[in-house]
Amino acid sequence: MSEILILGGRVVDPASGLDAERDVLLRDGRVAAVEAPGTLKGVAAAETVDAAGCVVAPGFVDVHVHLREPGQTYKESIATGTAAAAAGGFTTVVAMPNTVPVNDSVAGLEWMLDAARGSVVKLLTMPAATMGSMGMELTDFTALRKAGAVGFTDDGKPVLEDDAMRVALATAARLGVPVSQHAEDTRLTGGCSMNAGPVAFRLGLRGMTVEAEARIVERDIRLLREIEKAEGLKPHLHVQHVSTARAMEAIRAAKREGLHVTCEVAPHHFTLTDEAVGDYDTHAKMNPPLRAEVDRAAMVAGLMDGTADCIATDHAPHAAHEKEQEFERAPNGITGLETALGLALRVLHRGQGMTLARVVELMSVNPARAISLDGRGTLRAGSYADVVVFDPAAEWNFHAKDSRSKSRNTPFDRAAMVGRVRTTICEGRIVFRG
Ligand code: DOR
Repeated sequence: MSEILILGGRVVDPASGLDAERDVLLRDGRVAAVEAPGTLKGVAAAETVDAAGCVVAPGFVDVHVHLREPGQTYKESIATGTAAAAAGGFTTVVAMPNTVPVNDSVAGLEWMLDAARGSVVKLLTMPAATMGSMGMELTDFTALRKAGAVGFTDDGKPVLEDDAMRVALATAARLGVPVSQHAEDTRLTGGCSMNAGPVAFRLGLRGMTVEAEARIVERDIRLLREIEKAEGLKPHLHVQHVSTARAMEAIRAAKREGLHVTCEVAPHHFTLTDEAVGDYDTHAKMNPPLRAEVDRAAMVAGLMDGTADCIATDHAPHAAHEKEQEFERAPNGITGLETALGLALRVLHRGQGMTLARVVELMSVNPARAISLDGRGTLRAGSYADVVVFDPAAEWNFHAKDSRSKSRNTPFDRAAMVGRVRTTICEGRIVFRG
């Protein structure tokens, strides 16, 4: 029997409406009790965690990470990426399928989930929606779902064709999982390497327009409506890394209409604008790109008012030699697992007055719900013992050289953070100690 007693913390568990000082007892991988301070004193737990001055919350769930294994383990591996996740307070991560080869088969999915890969947190996968993520032939949703898929996506690329997306949404709806869409009309973005706007103009770079994102979101919402009417199904669209005010507004309207749409915002999109590209800084290059201030502000507004459901990192490690190229050649993506909480608390909690309960909702409760994770995203007795203990007032600077990730491609090297993870526990095992 293994026990951990977490003493003296402020338990923030929005799923059970709790925000109060409590002691928490974990036993055999589950939450055994959440009690008033002092009540559990008599319990002789094998291990105690002093949480005085800290928040004790359900472990964070990141529905969007790139772990690069198989095929690109010089950038990241499942072991190193999930170690970075644990350091960031995440106890569940969902791996995207753009590995080499693309995760589009049961064999590939099972290989990734094998304990031999060395994941230190709960690892889940969203396999490709189409074979090779080529946008044509659907993968075997039923078999992949049976093997544990929590949704389907061609992330890195959109499911562009109306018919392919329609069938993907309807098939996923029958299996009770979402289609996660990388919303980019690639017919409009060929050769583009950043946001369209004055910065791109100054740098002489071709820019991705707002329309390229918004048109796909609007098309997908139309498909939801059509499928509901024609087939009586309730398909679930999850919009990945929303970056434009226009897409956020379309999602707001779709939710009001009662369609099943959820979405995520990445920390870089609520923190930075395309000004961060400066003079061709490839650490500020990702897809979707950093946008204009009106878009950044719309991400904050969406996170504040409930339009946005989740904060997801889009953790996208790349090696130094890949980022040290001309801007247009460098790959898209930045690491994000170890800076998500520090940015959320700096920009949203301290900067905008977002409650800690709402931060936990965005990082734990809602992402767990979006992929229908039973027994996670809450600290109710009986749930998995997935816990993050963080100091919400700690001020520190992130140093990329100290990252657990194999890669260092972040625009937040040396950036100010608010809030620091002290302990991460996954299914009753301590997987990170700050
Ligand atoms: O910035 C990004 N990086 N956007 C994507 O769509 C893919 C990702 C990656 O895999 O590097």
